[in-house]
Amino acid sequence: MHATLPSAKALVPFVSVENMMRLVHHVGIEPFLKQLSDYIEQDFRRWESFDKTPRLASHSRDGVIELMPTSDGTNYSFKYVNGHPKNTRNGFQTVAAFGLLADVLNGYPILLTEMTLLTALRTAATSAMAARHLAPRNATTMALIGNGAQAEFQALAMKAVVGINHVRLYDIDPAATAKAARNLEGKGLQVTSCRTADAAIEGSQIITTCTADKQNAQILTDNLVGSGVHINAIGGDCPGKTELHPDILLRADTYVEYPPQTRIEGEIQQMSEDFPVTELWKVIAGLDSGRRDDRQITLFDSVGFAIEDFSALRYVRDKLSGTPFSQELDIVADPDDPRDLFGMLERAR
Ligand SMILES: NC(=O)c1ccc[n+]([C@@H]2O[C@H](COP(=O)([O-])OP(=O)(O)OC[C@H]3O[C@@H](n4cnc5c(N)ncnc54)[C@H](O)[C@@H]3O)[C@@H](O)[C@H]2O)c1
Repeated sequence: MHATLPSAKALVPFVSVENMMRLVHHVGIEPFLKQLSDYIEQDFRRWESFDKTPRLASHSRDGVIELMPTSDGTNYSFKYVNGHPKNTRNGFQTVAAFGLLADVLNGYPILLTEMTLLTALRTAATSAMAARHLAPRNATTMALIGNGAQAEFQALAMKAVVGINHVRLYDIDPAATAKAARNLEGKGLQVTSCRTADAAIEGSQIITTCTADKQNAQILTDNLVGSGVHINAIGGDCPGKTELHPDILLRADTYVEYPPQTRIEGEIQQMSEDFPVTELWKVIAGLDSGRRDDRQITLFDSVGFAIEDFSALRYVRDKLSGTPFSQELDIVADPDDPRDLFGMLERAR
């Protein structure tokens, strides 16, 4: 019997959904979002040291399945993630994910984890990091349009990282707004539920759009957007799936993650191939000044990039140490003699 037991080399820490929930509460959701946003910021600052490629997307009629790889030369990571806007009608989520971190030195995995919760956390932490650099100073109020799975994470990250104290909710489905309002109760935010996008935007310095629809939607039209606001557009993240009227992009200064991916997937897919954008990492590294004045409209055209997942995996790996929030899985075959894989198979006879 002992012969089939794996050695330490075979074992990879695995974070289940249950353990991820425990880890988040162990750290505290706002500290988690704040610390994760700091990890993402560290990696954006050393952007040039990463291998980068637009994610590999497999499109179908109802959605997309994507692989998102990157490496900094020491670690390698990838995330598997889907996007199926109609899923919620059948009791499935729009977005579900898992991911892996590996050691570049020998190619062995060092962490396998659920990433559905982690994607919502890292998307919110990235939005808040961008807003911290681009939103008007002392922003206190945000509009949150689209009150689905990502919504509460977005609101709490803006509170933890930017200092927002008021969130104005709107969704075409009032049940989604009621759900978000309920979940945000007692979290230190004033919550206003609105009946229109127009009402949600009133008095907001930050406008987050996180709707899901497989089409070129116009969640925001140009006349709704006043000067000086910061728009955090996260729902337009696939070819043929956008949220903003193109006229908004003509008035705004647009910041993106990785242009070769965003030009395919982001709001800027509606514009010409040479439409001017600024890479967000340059603002964070101090190579671009970011917001210039109070009247400027800034737009973070977010699609989600592999480096954010790399940072999230790195953060979870660091936070796990000394906690009981993982289990060891023998996902790497482990022969006694590395070249005797067949001999290892024979152990279980
Ligand atoms: N940029 C990123 O990094 C990133 C990461 C994760 C998810 N996303 C995208 O964010 C979006 C939201 O994801 P989710 O998991 O919250 O989806 P979800 O399906 O749980 O929620 C989407 C919500 O949008 C609402 N909605 C649809 N059309 C609307 C409209 N015209 N006006 C107002 N509300 C509308 C729906 O009623 C629903 O409540 C998706 O498009 C997803 O692909 C982006």
